[in-house]
Amino acid sequence: MKFTTVVAFAALLAATPGWAVSGDATAGEAKAAVCAACHGVDGNSVDPQYPKIAGQHEQYIAEQLALFKSGKRDNAIMLGFSALLSEQDMADLGAYFSAQQAKPDIADEAFVAIAQPIYRGGDVKRGIPACMACHGPDGRGNPLSRYPSIAAQHAQYSADMLRRYRDGAVYGEPDNAHALIMSQVAAKLSDKEIEALASYIQGLHSATP
Ligand code: HEC
Ligand code: HEC
Repeated sequence: MKFTTVVAFAALLAATPGWAVSGDATAGEAKAAVCAACHGVDGNSVDPQYPKIAGQHEQYIAEQLALFKSGKRDNAIMLGFSALLSEQDMADLGAYFSAQQAKPDIADEAFVAIAQPIYRGGDVKRGIPACMACHGPDGRGNPLSRYPSIAAQHAQYSADMLRRYRDGAVYGEPDNAHALIMSQVAAKLSDKEIEALASYIQGLHSATP
């Protein structure tokens, strides 16, 4: 069951076009100065209301910026900061932040018993695929398949995202067929499971950075 779910998702993914422009990290560094107030100089935001973007994949960052700019991903703050960016700027910013490393953080141990089985194995009976199947055991995702990195993300932000996906938020569909995946994955998660998974994700980091 778990296996079939993932295969069906994989078929969906094949249809998505890639980001056309490739970014330059050095050019991106200069353009990133304006982002630092919220996301931190190296993309490791300190305030949990702003997501960490350090170590996020280039294409994912560029795509989210384009979605904010078009209003398909609705956020008043990021609409303002993406409005004047060209596709090249978006790619350059993506290249710069993807070259930074997400600072490791910690998970609340009380949640591990709930989160780890779902993260690693899913819940076959309820049709929830293992998060690890796409985001990897260390949460770093896979840029080629366009599965974003979630490792060390602030729990508050991941929980927000998971609740939005569960409530049906799909950013950029149909242009971005990937977006539909997470609303399907999150549809069956309880509030408690979302809280636990978000905390667990905050503690994920790779053994050899
Ligand atoms: C005034 C604060 C602020 C500034 C400055 C800012 N951002 Fe953001 N950014 C946010 C907030 C808040 C969110 C979360 C939006 C949401 O909840 O959907 C966000 C989300 C993002 C995301 C999506 C992250 C994800 O994991 O999905 C990216 C990418 C991003 N910002 C890049 C940038 C870049 C690049 C700049 C500079 C050009 C920038 N931001 C400037 C506040 C800011
Ligand atoms: C079949 C692949 C797949 C599986 C399984 C999966 N994800 Fe995702 N996840 C994605 C994709 C693709 C996105 C980007 C969605 C978008 O573009 O809006 C994503 C986005 C996310 C994000 C938001 C990242 C960001 O910064 O914007 C979080 C948090 C997340 N997933 C957590 C989970 C959790 C927890 C599970 C397990 C319950 C899970 N995912 C299972 C593919 C997957």
